[in-house]
Amino acid sequence: MSKSVPHGGKLVNRFNPEQPIDYSLNYIELDNLELSDLELIANGGYSPLEGFMGKSDYTSVVQDMRLSNQLPWSIPITLAVSKEKASELTSGETINLIQNGTIYGTIVIEEIYLPDKKIEAEKVYQTTENKHPGVKRLYNRADVYIAGPITMTKKPKKSKFEDYYLDPIQTREVFNELGWETVVGFQTRNPVHRAHEYIQKTALETVDGLFLNPLVGETKSDDIPSDIRMKSYEVLLKNYYPKDRVFLSVFPAAMRYAGPREAIFHAIVRKNYGCTHFIVGRDHAGVGDYYGTYDAQKIFTNFNEEELGIKPMFFEHSFYCKKCENMASEKTCPHDKDHHVILSGTKVRGMLKNGQQPPKEFSRPEVVEILINGMQEVYIKN
Ligand code: ADX
Repeated sequence: MSKSVPHGGKLVNRFNPEQPIDYSLNYIELDNLELSDLELIANGGYSPLEGFMGKSDYTSVVQDMRLSNQLPWSIPITLAVSKEKASELTSGETINLIQNGTIYGTIVIEEIYLPDKKIEAEKVYQTTENKHPGVKRLYNRADVYIAGPITMTKKPKKSKFEDYYLDPIQTREVFNELGWETVVGFQTRNPVHRAHEYIQKTALETVDGLFLNPLVGETKSDDIPSDIRMKSYEVLLKNYYPKDRVFLSVFPAAMRYAGPREAIFHAIVRKNYGCTHFIVGRDHAGVGDYYGTYDAQKIFTNFNEEELGIKPMFFEHSFYCKKCENMASEKTCPHDKDHHVILSGTKVRGMLKNGQQPPKEFSRPEVVEILINGMQEVYIKN
């Protein structure tokens, strides 16, 4: 039986497909990020949240990385509408939440408030630069936030890899059935390269199971699309991972690129999925040069183990060393950088685009084959 307790004590369930649909209600149109947040509130991934944040939780999260009841929480979960839309809405009203004409649920409005986006950017992303993808999205959003409890009545249709969408209640069941007491969660928005495999398997040496939980919500346009990544995970698991020790399912959230703050958020959400441990390597959820290599590890000192309820497992920057003839890290390898096989994400994407194989010390050939074929198709289409 997994030792993991949901954040705040109990797993939230705000999904109710039986709730009758009232077409006469006013509506709010959700963007992709909001729709994925709606699903993660409803399925308990964001426990203890039961809806989009009100001003006091929002301010407390932005300023102090805690909900107003002091529970750790590092990323604001909010719903934005235009000033015109906000002028039609009143507190106490129930509103349909829709996207492209489909009703996904309702919100009972408790609060309508104006965020200070500059402060949100400064605190959450540590920059107010519009070229940071998270800040850009924040600045491009509508200006008024709507708060209140939600009910989800319909889940978004999964056109791809449907079987890999499991709610936290289901992953918890799986871990129990597998007899895993300790489970380490791994977040990724990338294919699993040798460095990822190395830190996953090193972590797995000390816990019962590995939960490979790639993020498949919205990402930057130059990140590798999730359907190509999923194929690469499948081939890797089939050939190189023990079946009874690894479980793969997807994380439907959008990427924020908030680095350290997002690492805390990723850990808390994986605790809700049933993990007891969570891997944080180098520049977790980072983008460009906005965060220091190990900032996403240092930020964990703001919380004690008990209130976080999930243990971070930190890893140094890892790579293949030609002198060691092994995977290694800055911590374990005595050799000069010249012996290390290190490629940036941009470099790897460039190679894949040109049909060039990254070296096998960087990525397994089976994975490379899938990436090259997949990415070539993407480039031909565009
Ligand atoms: S993330 O944006 O989802 O964090 P990515 O998929 O690159 O990005 O990383 C997944 C996890 O592996 C993160 O915890 C990250 O810190 C870690 N990681 C990625 N590459 C390395 C590496 N070479 N050495 C150590 N940790 C790494």
